Amino acid sequence: MSNNSPDWPEPIVRVQSLSDSCIDSIPDRYIKPPTDRPDSTSSSNVNIPIIDLGGLLGTEPEARRSVLQKISEACNEWGFFQVVNHGVRPELMDKARETWSEFFHLPMELKQKYANSPKTYEGYGSRLGVEKGAILDWSDYYFLHYLPLSLKDYNKWPSLPPYCREVFDEYGREVVKLGGRLMKALSINLGLEENFLQNAFGGEDIGACLRVNFYPKCPRPELTLGLSPHSDPGGMTMLLPDNQVAGLQVRKGDEWITVKPERHAFIVNIGDQIQVISNAKYKSVEHRVIVNSDKERVSLAFFYNPKSDIPIQPAKELVSPECPSLYPPMTFDEYRLFIRMRGPRGKSQVDSLKSSNR
Ligand code: OGA
Ligand code: NI
Repeated sequence: MSNNSPDWPEPIVRVQSLSDSCIDSIPDRYIKPPTDRPDSTSSSNVNIPIIDLGGLLGTEPEARRSVLQKISEACNEWGFFQVVNHGVRPELMDKARETWSEFFHLPMELKQKYANSPKTYEGYGSRLGVEKGAILDWSDYYFLHYLPLSLKDYNKWPSLPPYCREVFDEYGREVVKLGGRLMKALSINLGLEENFLQNAFGGEDIGACLRVNFYPKCPRPELTLGLSPHSDPGGMTMLLPDNQVAGLQVRKGDEWITVKPERHAFIVNIGDQIQVISNAKYKSVEHRVIVNSDKERVSLAFFYNPKSDIPIQPAKELVSPECPSLYPPMTFDEYRLFIRMRGPRGKSQVDSLKSSNR
């Protein structure tokens, strides 16, 4: 099935439709060059750190310090960690994932009503980037805004399955709260005042959006990727992974480590904007998604971002003669044009900023 939104460089093909047509090969458009295929996957049993946030909310200073310490180590060593006891109800997490899965199983004509365009990316999409002839990833997605309220538009949210807007609304509210708590922890760990990051992001006026990724079964998973290597351009991501199927891989040195999701955990990762504000004390980390031939996968990536029109730059507190500022100020609106035009390209954007600067 394809639609012909004039803004994409070529007709959009839904990966789900390709998958449903039961072919045993995949179109050339999805075949990665040999060096980019998933065979470099590490077989090690290593996992990203799992952190119990319970002590962060309590009144016990020692417990609080210990959680902060674990978050600090995870940010330094991995840029990625899982959190449990995070305050978001497990039933709400399951409900949100199930409801999105139901959406993706609605008839194609219904979903096509929400077909997105590269202007805002809101809605039902099947590619990231607008380069004609680009090699594409094996996934469809749905992208929507929660914050600022001026961008939240129910007309761009699905209206089915019934009650989905209520579920997605509550989910967004709860995950934003979790994001606020993590921002405090990160600020303290960076040696900043606890509201520093939140204020640098625009206070109450942050951006928050959701990308629901749908990875259909793939007859040739060894030739393609569900999502190419990238760092998240925004502030911080809280990912609700599939509860049945693994697929997310995090780069550690030259290896790709497959994340083993803990039940009812969120996977948290540092985005490029926190790398910039922390003057690279914390680094966003490359990640990618592999697919498989017998199970589809659904994940909810919630992006906690700066207000999009304020300049983001290294905190003065983290800049000194020994540690000069690495990044020029840039708004997130400007910053995210790169991935929206060119698609996922590892860490090339944030790295290029650095070398072009003074
Ligand atoms: C993303 C992302 C990982 C996943 O949406 O930015 O990295 O497991 N998703 O779907
Ligand atoms: Ni990502």
